Order: sequence, then C-alpha cells, then structure tokens
Amino acid sequence: MDGNGRWARARGLPRTVGHREGAEALRRVVRASAEFGIDYLTVFGFSSENWKRPPEEVTDLMGLLRLYLRKEIAEIDENGVRLRVIGDRDRLSADIIQLIEDAEERTAGNTRLNLTVALSYGGRAEIVWAAQQLAKAVRAGSLDPEDIDEASFHRHLFTADMPDPDLVIRTSGEKRISNFLLWQSAYAEYVFMDKLWPDFAGEDLKTAIAEFGGRKRRYGAAG
Ligand code: IPE
Ligand code: MG
Repeated sequence: MDGNGRWARARGLPRTVGHREGAEALRRVVRASAEFGIDYLTVFGFSSENWKRPPEEVTDLMGLLRLYLRKEIAEIDENGVRLRVIGDRDRLSADIIQLIEDAEERTAGNTRLNLTVALSYGGRAEIVWAAQQLAKAVRAGSLDPEDIDEASFHRHLFTADMPDPDLVIRTSGEKRISNFLLWQSAYAEYVFMDKLWPDFAGEDLKTAIAEFGGRKRRYGAAG
C-alpha cells in the first residue's frame, strides 16, 4: 500500500491525511476482495523499516491502526473476514497488541476472506527468525540438520498455514519488493501500478487480476 504521502503532497495536505485516505482504500479493497471471491489478501501496512520515520508520523500511523482495529472489526467480522497480523508484534504498544489479539480471536472462525495485515514486518527478519527456530531445534536434539528442507522452513514463517501469494501488487509506480514476503513470493506474479494507494479501488484490483490472468506461469519448467 504505497503512495499515501505523495497523494497528500499533491494536494498540499499533511501526510496524515494521505494515511487516513489510505485506510479508506483498504476498506474498499477488503470489500472488493470478498466480493471477487479472493481467499487470501495480505497487505503491507507497516514495515520494520517504517519505524525509522519521524516519531510524529509513526504515532499517526499507530493511531490510525488503533482506529481501524476498533472501528472496522465489527464490519470485518460480519463480512466473514478472518483478520490476522504478521510481523514483530513485540514492538507494537501493549494496547495495540491487545486489539490485534481480540480481533484475531473474534474472527478466527470466519472463512470468506483471510485478511492478513503485515505490521512491523520484514521479509528478511522473518527468514532469520525461522532459521533461529530451526537452529534451536537442532541444538535441542529434536531436529537433524539434514532434515531441514523448504517445507520445514515454511512451517516456521509467520505464514505457516497460508498459501504463497499468486499475485503481488505494488502501487505508486515504485518497482521494488521492499522486503515483502520474500520467501513466499518466489513464484508470485508481480503487477506494478502507477496509481497511488489512496486512489486504489476495486476496479484497480480487477485490472491487476486481469493482467495476472494473462500471464503464463511455468515455475521454472519449459514453456
Ligand atoms: C504508504 O504510503 C503507507 C506506509 C508505508 C505506512 P507512504 O507513506 O510510503 O507514501 P509515500 O511513499 O511517501 O508516497
Ligand atoms: Mg512509500
């Protein structure tokens, strides 16, 4: 979800307003995803690198997150959406961790759409974490290093019980991955769109899915 700051700047507004509109866009896209029959939607809300932003902006973003978790959870739940958060949640404040836990528990039985929000998330950190867990199991004698394979690695990622993404969309014209789902996106199709995130709507999701539909996926096999 990139481009909130530029969206605001183009209108002479503070970045916060861009983030607020970004939260609106997320509402629209969650609704559209459920309507389109998408099973898993994962959004990059706040990266481990975003902690380096000015403290006022981090505070604003955390405030919006709080608001989203408090105000949206009823609609999310009513729409059959299961909400989960991936990332280093220990860096979040205690009240936000509580809101996340409540939301996850409340929506745990929902099956229409799996909405995963990556918060304080970094793909490399996630891989390092998985390696640490495996190393601990080896040290404890419960795992033979020879038995470490892609499947056992995957089981130690935050996304252990989720499928890998088929399609990764980045908005705002940037053509980078920026540490998002590095392991999981090995064979994902990427669609880069110029639209800034606050302008993103269900139609844009449709456009991206149509482009995805035209791709030939070979997973390294001959075409
Ligand atoms: C995305 O918009 C929101 C977050 C990363 C939290 P940006 O804040 O990155 O907006 P730009 O890139 O400055 O336009
Ligand atoms: Mg950005």
